[in-house]
Order: sequence, then C-alpha cells, then structure tokens
Amino acid sequence: MRKYLEPAIMICLALALGLTFKQESSEGVKDSVVVNGNDTSWRLDVTKLQGDTLIHLPFDPYFKAPKTYKAFPLTANLKAFFGADIKEESLDVIFECADGYKPHMSLEKALAGNGYLAYHDLAASEGSHWPDSVAGTLAPFYLVWPDVEAGNKDYVRPYALIGIELKKAEVEFAAAIPRLAKHMEGYDLFSSTCMKCHSMNKAGGAKAPEFNFPKNITEYWTKENIWAFIQDPTSFRYSSQMPAMTSIDRADFEKIYAYLESMKTQKPSE
Ligand code: HEC
Repeated sequence: MRKYLEPAIMICLALALGLTFKQESSEGVKDSVVVNGNDTSWRLDVTKLQGDTLIHLPFDPYFKAPKTYKAFPLTANLKAFFGADIKEESLDVIFECADGYKPHMSLEKALAGNGYLAYHDLAASEGSHWPDSVAGTLAPFYLVWPDVEAGNKDYVRPYALIGIELKKAEVEFAAAIPRLAKHMEGYDLFSSTCMKCHSMNKAGGAKAPEFNFPKNITEYWTKENIWAFIQDPTSFRYSSQMPAMTSIDRADFEKIYAYLESMKTQKPSE
C-alpha cells in the first residue's frame, strides 16, 4: 500500500532540519518496506536523518569534477528508518524522485557501498544548497557513492530524491514481469536500463512514456525505429529528454524488443 506524506509536512520536517528546499516536489515523500514477506509500511521522517557530515568526491559523475558536499550517510539512515535487522539479501532499495525517475538496486550492495544523501554543495552561493544552475534538478537530495567507481552500474545515483522504499523488486514491479521464462533476460535488461524512466503495465518510472497500456510500444513504433531512437533520440526529436542508451548493443536490444513485444498479451485489465 502506498503512503504519501503531504508536501506541507515535508516542508515542516525540512525546516525542523534546517534545510531550505528551493523547489518542493508536488509528489511528497513516501516509503514502505517489506521485511520477510510481511508488508510493513514506514514513513520517511527527514528529522531522523543522522550523521550530518562533509564528504569529498575526487570525481563526481554528475558534475564530472571533484565535489564536496554536506551529506547524511545512507547505511546508518536506512537502518535507522527501517530497523537494524533488515534482511539484506532479498530486498531492493527503490528510489523515488520528484521527476518520476525510479531506479532501484540491491539493498545488500547499497548497505556495503558507503553511500551518502548529499543535500548541500559547498560550491553553492550563500543561502543556497545547490549552485543556481542545478538547484531545480538536484534538490532535495542527490545520492553519491564516494568509494564506488563512477562507471559501476550496480550503483544508482538518483537526484531530486524524495523517498526510499525497501521492497523486493519482483514485488514492486510484478506487473512488468513476463509470463514466459525465455523473456526474463530481456526483462532484466529493460529493468536495469529503461524502467527507471519508463513504465511497463504502470510499473516503473513515471518520467517517460508507458510501454504497454493501453497500447504496446511495438504496436505503433517499428523495431528499427526503436533501435535508432535509443541510440540517438535527438535524431528523432531535437528536444528529446531521453539520453542515448549507448550501453545497449544490438544483441541486448533484440532481447529487450522480444520482451516488449511479448507483453502485448499481458496487459492489465484497466
Ligand atoms: C533517463 C530516462 C530514460 C531512460 C533510462 C530511457 N528512456 Fe526512453 N524516453 C525517455 C523520455 C523522457 C522519453 C519521452 C520522449 C522524449 O523526450 O523524446 C522517452 C521516449 C522513448 C521512446 C519513444 C516513445 C514515444 O512514443 O515517445 C522509446 C521507443 C524509448 N524511449 C525507448 C527506451 C528504451 C528501449 C529504453 C531502455 C533501453 C529507454 N527508452 C530508456 C527517457 C528515458
């Protein structure tokens, strides 16, 4: 079940913490956790964020430069929110962002990765948390991993982060899982590269178009156009908000496409 924290409460909590968010999300903050199959919902309470500290990244993948942030440690705060005894192996961390971006990663990796919820860039001008050019993009929180290589795709780096859920990914994204096992590989590729922005049967990100409901993407886009689009979206639309998916080769794309097409026969009832 989804729980929403009103934006007004979010602002109060933010003020209590001494944070002044320049941009408030209209979506509010929510979180929930499934531990050992028991559905237990938790409210993310930003006043409980602990361990305010300064961290330095020799290379920040967003700015592509060295950066220093004020930040809260992720592991300590996940344990504080969700309990020190969260069962690591079977859970995923699902990140909710103000713009509908919704990436996920394994909780076990997240706990081991020494992540930080950055909320203040030391390069920001007086009275701001972020440089003006990126304030609307990065606030309120940006997740960084000072010890993880920038290219490591197992670690997601969401910004505009507003909520965290601990859940099995196969529960959160159940509606997107293909009935036939032969499409699982395509689903896994889709899940790690596309679903943080796009949804399948309404499961996944809300930053980009849905791919199956009511019409399947393969019912109105040709295979070759999808292939060309993902390599260079701006060759179709000069203003496209989708980044080129350069990590996907043709063999991966064949699997993703077969999965996408197979979902035609697996639509939600409404
Ligand atoms: C970072 C977010 C993001 C990711 C990741 C992403 N997309 Fe997109 N995609 C978008 C956005 C936003 C649009 C909306 C149209 C635009 O801006 O061009 C879009 C549009 C599309 C479209 C055109 C659909 C339409 O009718 O407009 C296709 C096809 C597509 N994406 C395929 C993919 C596939 C396949 C993947 C994974 C390999 C993927 N995208 C990953 C953001 C993303």
